[in-house]
Amino acid sequence: MGESGALQSIVYHRGLLRLLDQRKLPLEEDYIEVKCSADGWNAIRDMVVRGAPAVAIAAALALAVEVSRLDFTGTPAEAAAFVSKKLEYLVSSRPPTAVNLSDAATKLQNLVSRTAETTEDAQAIFQAYIEATETMLVDDAIGLHGAKFLKQQHGNSIHTSVLTHCNTGSLATSGYGTALGVIHALHSGGILKNAFCTETRPFNQGSRLTAFELIHEKIPAMLIADSAAAALMKNRSVQAVIVGADRIAANGDTANKIGTYNLAISAKHHGVQFYVAAPVTSIDLSLPSGEQIVIEERPPKELLNSEGGLGKQVVASGISVWNPAFDVTPANLITAIITEKGVVTKISFNLQTVLASETHFC
Ligand code: MRU
Repeated sequence: MGESGALQSIVYHRGLLRLLDQRKLPLEEDYIEVKCSADGWNAIRDMVVRGAPAVAIAAALALAVEVSRLDFTGTPAEAAAFVSKKLEYLVSSRPPTAVNLSDAATKLQNLVSRTAETTEDAQAIFQAYIEATETMLVDDAIGLHGAKFLKQQHGNSIHTSVLTHCNTGSLATSGYGTALGVIHALHSGGILKNAFCTETRPFNQGSRLTAFELIHEKIPAMLIADSAAAALMKNRSVQAVIVGADRIAANGDTANKIGTYNLAISAKHHGVQFYVAAPVTSIDLSLPSGEQIVIEERPPKELLNSEGGLGKQVVASGISVWNPAFDVTPANLITAIITEKGVVTKISFNLQTVLASETHFC
């Protein structure tokens, strides 16, 4: 648990990193110690930590712990090369649907290269690296911007019910989260009637993690099967769908957990607003559209076995399986993208401006 009372998937003090083993939630709260980049790589591959922002932070901090304990005798250039190589290795821990880890790695690689040009002390490279990773830890501005925007759109009184998908809260980030951060801020602002969360099969991030977080935060909430979402919207029980993002292309097309696209189509059909909440680091202007986003495919076991692959086999052997972990929602189905810098409407025109902007906008 963090100082704010929020659940903490990443516990870090300089030289020490512990990750909450999210595979055991909600029944057990067990932390594993990460001492080096190899421990971090394994934790990401095995889904101990997941959620694009949390994965990026955990990877960067795993290496921060490693270099803080390192007895290094090389030159600054060798220290920078060491960090760069380890970051490349960490980026390979999961297929690249999410942009956050590779984006963080590139920025950190640039930082250590620049530092190597201005110092004769290899330890200064590691120090600069450690300090940069520590600044990645907290930012709850997305929730506050989102709640303000939704208040403008849906009114002030307590009648806004929202549906969310996958897990985007404290467990997936380092603060209150992206979509769940907005839901948390709506609740704190007294304008949330109810938060619905999907199970998010097959890995069940919704039923195992989001339901747990909603209960923990004492937010009025209800779990639905993924397949109940259209019926929920038809009954007009929700005014908005709010989801996170793993990568947003230059035209606003957004990759997120498998099933997000279904929700966006249903929302359009039923006149429900569809919001994406994500840090600006999730925006990837190098990709013109969602067509270029590589979609992670996960093992058949997640469908063949109970508990999203963690339990026993429940499906006849021999069936073939397609298990994409993410899908792409086209920009024209998205009402607005909520970032820590503000809220982007008219998405396809505005994303470049957002990234260039130092100031808040709406
Ligand atoms: O496979 P996961 O559990 O890492 O997928 C997580 C999601 O899809 C989240 O919605 C996304 O990363 C945004 S998290 C703030």
